[in-house]
Amino acid sequence: MTRPAAMRDLSRRARRSGESIGFVPTMGALHAGHLSLMDRARRENRRLAVSVFVNPLQFGPREDFTRYPRNDLSDVRLCRSSGSDWLFMPSVRSIYPPGFSTQVTPGPMGSMWEGAVRPGHFAGVLTVVLKLLEIVEPDTIYLGQKDAQQAALILRMVSDLELPVRVSVCPTVRERDGLALSSRNGYLAPEERRRARGLARGLRAGKQAVLRGARDARSIVGAARRVLRAEAKPDRLEYLALVDPRTFEPLPRLGGRALLIGAVRIGRTRLIDNVTLIASAKEP
Ligand code: PAJ
Repeated sequence: MTRPAAMRDLSRRARRSGESIGFVPTMGALHAGHLSLMDRARRENRRLAVSVFVNPLQFGPREDFTRYPRNDLSDVRLCRSSGSDWLFMPSVRSIYPPGFSTQVTPGPMGSMWEGAVRPGHFAGVLTVVLKLLEIVEPDTIYLGQKDAQQAALILRMVSDLELPVRVSVCPTVRERDGLALSSRNGYLAPEERRRARGLARGLRAGKQAVLRGARDARSIVGAARRVLRAEAKPDRLEYLALVDPRTFEPLPRLGGRALLIGAVRIGRTRLIDNVTLIASAKEP
Protein backbone atom coordinates (compact mmCIF):
# COMPACT_ATOMS: atom_id res chain seq x y z
CA MET A 1 0.00 0.00 0.00
CA THR A 2 1.33 3.38 -0.94
CA ARG A 3 -1.27 5.95 0.09
CA PRO A 4 -1.03 7.37 3.62
CA ALA A 5 -4.83 7.75 3.77
CA ALA A 6 -5.30 4.03 2.98
CA MET A 7 -2.81 3.03 5.68
CA ARG A 8 -4.47 5.30 8.25
CA ASP A 9 -7.87 3.94 7.37
CA LEU A 10 -6.86 0.31 7.87
CA SER A 11 -5.13 0.89 11.18
CA ARG A 12 -8.00 3.05 12.51
CA ARG A 13 -10.50 0.40 11.60
CA ALA A 14 -8.41 -2.30 13.32
CA ARG A 15 -7.99 -0.21 16.42
CA ARG A 16 -11.69 0.50 16.59
CA SER A 17 -12.23 -3.27 16.69
CA GLY A 18 -9.92 -3.43 19.69
CA GLU A 19 -6.88 -4.85 17.85
CA SER A 20 -3.40 -3.82 19.01
CA ILE A 21 -0.96 -2.59 16.37
CA GLY A 22 2.81 -3.06 16.31
CA PHE A 23 4.83 -0.94 13.90
CA VAL A 24 8.31 -1.47 12.42
CA PRO A 25 9.60 1.47 10.36
CA THR A 26 12.42 0.61 7.92
CA MET A 27 14.24 1.85 4.85
CA GLY A 28 13.92 -1.56 3.22
CA ALA A 29 16.63 -3.92 1.94
CA LEU A 30 15.27 -6.05 4.76
CA HIS A 31 17.61 -8.40 6.64
CA ALA A 32 17.49 -10.59 9.74
CA GLY A 33 17.86 -7.50 11.98
CA HIS A 34 14.63 -6.03 10.60
CA LEU A 35 12.98 -9.46 10.74
CA SER A 36 13.75 -9.80 14.44
CA LEU A 37 11.84 -6.56 15.09
CA MET A 38 8.96 -7.83 12.96
CA ASP A 39 8.90 -11.17 14.85
CA ARG A 40 8.76 -9.42 18.19
CA ALA A 41 6.05 -6.99 17.02
CA ARG A 42 4.09 -9.88 15.55
CA ARG A 43 4.21 -11.83 18.82
CA GLU A 44 3.17 -8.86 20.94
CA ASN A 45 0.33 -7.46 18.78
CA ARG A 46 -2.75 -8.53 16.88
CA ARG A 47 -1.63 -6.52 13.82
CA LEU A 48 1.78 -5.77 12.34
CA ALA A 49 2.50 -2.74 10.15
CA VAL A 50 5.86 -2.40 8.39
CA SER A 51 6.94 0.67 6.45
CA VAL A 52 9.59 0.74 3.74
CA PHE A 53 10.59 4.29 2.90
CA VAL A 54 14.07 5.51 2.01
CA ASN A 55 13.74 8.90 3.63
CA PRO A 56 15.57 11.57 1.61
CA LEU A 57 15.36 14.03 4.53
CA GLN A 58 17.83 12.03 6.66
CA PHE A 59 20.56 11.84 4.02
CA GLY A 60 23.12 14.62 3.64
CA PRO A 61 23.85 16.09 0.19
CA ARG A 62 27.01 14.00 -0.12
CA GLU A 63 25.59 10.79 1.33
CA ASP A 64 24.34 7.60 -0.29
CA PHE A 65 20.60 8.38 -0.83
CA THR A 66 20.64 7.53 -4.55
CA ARG A 67 22.72 4.40 -4.18
CA TYR A 68 21.07 3.20 -0.94
CA PRO A 69 20.08 -0.47 -1.56
CA ARG A 70 16.50 -0.85 -2.77
CA ASN A 71 14.92 -4.25 -3.13
CA ASP A 72 11.15 -3.84 -3.17
CA LEU A 73 10.31 -7.29 -4.50
CA SER A 74 12.27 -9.17 -1.89
CA ASP A 75 10.99 -6.77 0.81
CA VAL A 76 7.40 -7.54 -0.15
CA ARG A 77 8.12 -11.27 -0.01
CA LEU A 78 9.89 -11.07 3.34
CA CYS A 79 7.10 -9.00 4.86
CA ARG A 80 4.54 -11.52 3.69
CA SER A 81 6.46 -14.50 5.03
CA SER A 82 7.07 -12.83 8.38
CA GLY A 83 3.36 -12.30 8.90
CA SER A 84 3.04 -8.57 8.41
CA ASP A 85 -0.55 -7.45 7.85
CA TRP A 86 0.24 -4.14 6.20
CA LEU A 87 3.27 -3.08 4.20
CA PHE A 88 3.29 0.69 3.77
CA MET A 89 5.53 1.88 0.92
CA PRO A 90 4.74 5.55 0.37
CA SER A 91 6.21 7.65 -2.42
CA VAL A 92 8.52 10.53 -1.53
CA ARG A 93 5.89 12.88 -2.93
CA SER A 94 3.15 11.61 -0.66
CA ILE A 95 5.28 12.07 2.46
CA TYR A 96 6.86 15.35 1.31
CA PRO A 97 4.42 17.06 -1.06
CA PRO A 98 5.53 20.27 -2.76
CA GLY A 99 5.79 23.04 -0.19
CA PHE A 100 6.60 20.68 2.69
CA SER A 101 8.82 22.63 5.10
CA THR A 102 8.24 21.75 8.78
CA GLN A 103 10.78 19.61 10.63
CA VAL A 104 11.27 18.26 14.14
CA THR A 105 14.37 19.77 15.77
CA PRO A 106 16.15 17.33 18.08
CA GLY A 107 17.69 18.60 21.32
CA PRO A 108 21.46 18.70 21.93
CA MET A 109 21.70 14.93 21.60
CA GLY A 110 20.88 15.37 17.92
CA SER A 111 24.16 17.17 17.19
CA MET A 112 26.46 14.71 18.94
CA TRP A 113 28.26 11.66 17.50
CA GLU A 114 26.16 10.52 14.50
CA GLY A 115 24.61 13.98 14.43
CA ALA A 116 28.02 15.67 14.37
CA VAL A 117 29.24 13.54 11.46
CA ARG A 118 25.87 13.77 9.68
CA PRO A 119 24.43 17.27 10.22
CA GLY A 120 20.64 17.35 9.88
CA HIS A 121 20.39 13.55 9.91
CA PHE A 122 18.38 13.24 13.12
CA ALA A 123 16.00 16.08 12.24
CA GLY A 124 15.24 14.04 9.12
CA VAL A 125 14.78 10.85 11.15
CA LEU A 126 12.54 12.43 13.79
CA THR A 127 10.43 14.22 11.18
CA VAL A 128 9.72 11.05 9.21
CA VAL A 129 9.15 8.95 12.33
CA LEU A 130 6.65 11.50 13.66
CA LYS A 131 4.85 11.51 10.30
CA LEU A 132 4.79 7.71 10.17
CA LEU A 133 3.45 7.54 13.73
CA GLU A 134 0.70 9.99 12.78
CA ILE A 135 -0.24 7.82 9.81
CA VAL A 136 -0.02 4.35 11.38
CA GLU A 137 -1.04 5.31 14.93
CA PRO A 138 0.45 2.12 16.40
CA ASP A 139 0.32 1.01 20.02
CA THR A 140 4.03 0.17 19.96
CA ILE A 141 6.91 1.13 17.68
CA TYR A 142 9.81 -1.37 17.48
CA LEU A 143 13.36 -0.06 17.03
CA GLY A 144 16.81 -1.68 16.97
CA GLN A 145 19.51 -1.11 19.57
CA LYS A 146 21.95 -1.18 16.62
CA ASP A 147 21.02 2.48 16.03
CA ALA A 148 21.16 3.36 19.72
CA GLN A 149 21.35 7.14 19.33
CA GLN A 150 18.38 7.11 16.95
CA ALA A 151 16.38 5.04 19.47
CA ALA A 152 17.35 7.41 22.32
CA LEU A 153 16.26 10.44 20.27
CA ILE A 154 12.94 8.81 19.35
CA LEU A 155 12.33 7.93 23.02
CA ARG A 156 13.08 11.56 23.87
CA MET A 157 10.69 12.85 21.18
CA VAL A 158 7.89 10.50 22.26
CA SER A 159 8.28 11.70 25.83
CA ASP A 160 8.74 15.42 25.03
CA LEU A 161 5.80 15.57 22.61
CA GLU A 162 3.69 13.16 24.71
CA LEU A 163 3.03 10.92 21.74
CA PRO A 164 0.62 8.10 22.65
CA VAL A 165 2.90 5.22 21.65
CA ARG A 166 5.07 2.72 23.49
CA VAL A 167 8.70 2.39 22.31
CA SER A 168 10.34 -1.03 22.35
CA VAL A 169 14.09 -1.20 21.70
CA CYS A 170 15.23 -4.68 20.56
CA PRO A 171 18.69 -6.33 20.65
CA THR A 172 21.18 -6.05 17.78
CA VAL A 173 21.27 -9.04 15.43
CA ARG A 174 24.82 -9.95 14.36
CA GLU A 175 26.64 -12.12 11.85
CA ARG A 176 28.54 -15.11 13.28
CA ASP A 177 31.73 -13.07 13.46
CA GLY A 178 30.02 -10.29 15.39
CA LEU A 179 29.41 -7.77 12.61
CA ALA A 180 26.05 -6.07 13.21
CA LEU A 181 23.66 -6.67 10.31
CA SER A 182 23.11 -3.55 8.24
CA SER A 183 21.75 -2.77 4.79
CA ARG A 184 25.07 -1.02 4.15
CA ASN A 185 27.17 -4.18 4.73
CA GLY A 186 26.48 -5.08 1.11
CA TYR A 187 28.71 -2.19 0.03
CA LEU A 188 31.78 -3.92 1.52
CA ALA A 189 34.28 -5.60 -0.80
CA PRO A 190 35.45 -9.03 0.49
CA GLU A 191 38.65 -7.64 1.99
CA GLU A 192 36.70 -4.79 3.65
CA ARG A 193 34.15 -7.28 4.97
CA ARG A 194 36.95 -9.19 6.73
CA ARG A 195 38.13 -5.99 8.41
CA ALA A 196 34.58 -4.91 9.29
CA ARG A 197 34.25 -7.43 12.11
CA GLY A 198 37.01 -5.49 13.88
CA LEU A 199 34.47 -2.85 14.95
CA ALA A 200 32.43 -5.35 16.99
CA ARG A 201 35.64 -6.95 18.26
CA GLY A 202 36.95 -3.61 19.42
CA LEU A 203 33.74 -2.89 21.31
CA ARG A 204 33.91 -6.37 22.84
CA ALA A 205 37.47 -5.66 23.96
CA GLY A 206 36.10 -2.61 25.80
CA LYS A 207 33.56 -4.84 27.49
CA GLN A 208 36.29 -7.29 28.50
CA ALA A 209 38.33 -4.45 29.97
CA VAL A 210 35.33 -3.67 32.20
CA LEU A 211 35.13 -7.31 33.29
CA ARG A 212 38.82 -7.08 34.25
CA GLY A 213 38.00 -4.08 36.43
CA ALA A 214 38.51 -1.02 34.20
CA ARG A 215 36.15 1.82 35.12
CA ASP A 216 37.54 5.05 33.68
CA ALA A 217 36.55 5.93 30.13
CA ARG A 218 40.13 6.39 29.03
CA SER A 219 41.17 2.81 29.75
CA ILE A 220 37.91 1.27 28.46
CA VAL A 221 38.00 3.28 25.23
CA GLY A 222 41.76 2.70 24.95
CA ALA A 223 41.34 -1.08 25.13
CA ALA A 224 38.60 -0.92 22.47
CA ARG A 225 40.61 1.40 20.23
CA ARG A 226 43.70 -0.84 20.21
CA VAL A 227 41.75 -3.89 18.99
CA LEU A 228 39.63 -1.83 16.59
CA ARG A 229 42.66 -0.20 14.96
CA ALA A 230 44.57 -3.48 14.70
CA GLU A 231 41.71 -5.58 13.32
CA ALA A 232 39.49 -3.19 11.34
CA LYS A 233 42.32 -0.98 10.09
CA PRO A 234 39.67 1.71 9.58
CA ASP A 235 40.19 4.30 6.88
CA ARG A 236 38.75 6.68 9.44
CA LEU A 237 37.79 6.25 13.08
CA GLU A 238 34.96 8.76 13.38
CA TYR A 239 34.25 8.31 17.06
CA LEU A 240 34.63 5.82 19.86
CA ALA A 241 33.23 6.87 23.21
CA LEU A 242 31.70 5.90 26.52
CA VAL A 243 28.32 7.65 26.83
CA ASP A 244 25.22 7.90 28.95
CA PRO A 245 22.61 5.62 27.31
CA ARG A 246 19.78 8.17 27.64
CA THR A 247 21.50 11.49 26.82
CA PHE A 248 24.61 10.34 24.91
CA GLU A 249 26.70 12.77 26.99
CA PRO A 250 30.28 11.44 27.32
CA LEU A 251 30.95 9.70 30.62
CA PRO A 252 34.36 10.06 32.30
CA ARG A 253 33.76 6.87 34.30
CA LEU A 254 31.55 3.82 34.18
CA GLY A 255 29.18 4.03 37.14
CA GLY A 256 25.97 2.11 36.46
CA ARG A 257 25.03 1.50 32.87
CA ALA A 258 26.73 3.01 29.83
CA LEU A 259 27.07 2.53 26.11
CA LEU A 260 30.34 2.13 24.26
CA ILE A 261 29.60 3.55 20.80
CA GLY A 262 31.74 3.53 17.68
CA ALA A 263 31.67 4.61 14.05
CA VAL A 264 34.26 3.84 11.40
CA ARG A 265 34.74 4.21 7.72
CA ILE A 266 36.01 1.12 5.91
CA GLY A 267 36.68 2.09 2.33
CA ARG A 268 33.69 4.24 1.41
CA THR A 269 31.35 2.48 3.81
CA ARG A 270 30.32 3.88 7.21
CA LEU A 271 29.64 1.34 9.93
CA ILE A 272 28.25 2.01 13.41
CA ASP A 273 27.82 -0.25 16.41
CA ASN A 274 27.54 -0.18 20.18
CA VAL A 275 27.58 -2.40 23.25
CA THR A 276 26.04 -1.93 26.68
CA LEU A 277 28.44 -1.84 29.62
CA ILE A 278 27.34 -2.39 33.20
CA ALA A 279 29.52 -1.85 36.24
CA SER A 280 28.93 -4.81 38.52
CA ALA A 281 27.62 -4.07 42.00
CA LYS A 282 30.92 -4.83 43.73
CA GLU A 283 33.62 -2.38 42.67
CA PRO A 284 37.09 -3.84 42.10
P1 PAJ B 1 16.82 1.04 8.82
O1 PAJ B 1 18.27 1.29 8.81
O2 PAJ B 1 16.19 0.29 7.69
O3 PAJ B 1 16.48 0.28 10.16
C1 PAJ B 1 15.13 0.01 10.52
C2 PAJ B 1 15.12 -0.52 11.96
O4 PAJ B 1 15.86 -1.75 12.01
C3 PAJ B 1 15.81 0.46 12.93
O5 PAJ B 1 15.06 0.53 14.14
C4 PAJ B 1 17.16 -0.19 13.14
O6 PAJ B 1 17.74 0.12 14.39
C5 PAJ B 1 16.79 -1.67 13.06
N1 PAJ B 1 17.99 -2.49 12.76
C6 PAJ B 1 18.89 -2.29 11.76
N2 PAJ B 1 19.89 -3.21 11.84
C7 PAJ B 1 19.60 -3.99 12.91
C8 PAJ B 1 20.25 -5.12 13.53
N3 PAJ B 1 21.40 -5.62 13.06
N4 PAJ B 1 19.68 -5.66 14.63
C9 PAJ B 1 18.51 -5.15 15.13
N5 PAJ B 1 17.85 -4.11 14.60
C10 PAJ B 1 18.38 -3.53 13.50
O7 PAJ B 1 16.76 3.11 10.97
C11 PAJ B 1 16.19 3.36 9.93
O8 PAJ B 1 16.01 2.43 8.92
C12 PAJ B 1 15.57 4.73 9.63
O9 PAJ B 1 16.36 5.71 10.23
C13 PAJ B 1 14.09 4.85 10.08
C14 PAJ B 1 13.93 4.67 11.59
C15 PAJ B 1 13.22 3.82 9.33
C16 PAJ B 1 13.57 6.28 9.72
O10 PAJ B 1 13.72 6.53 8.37
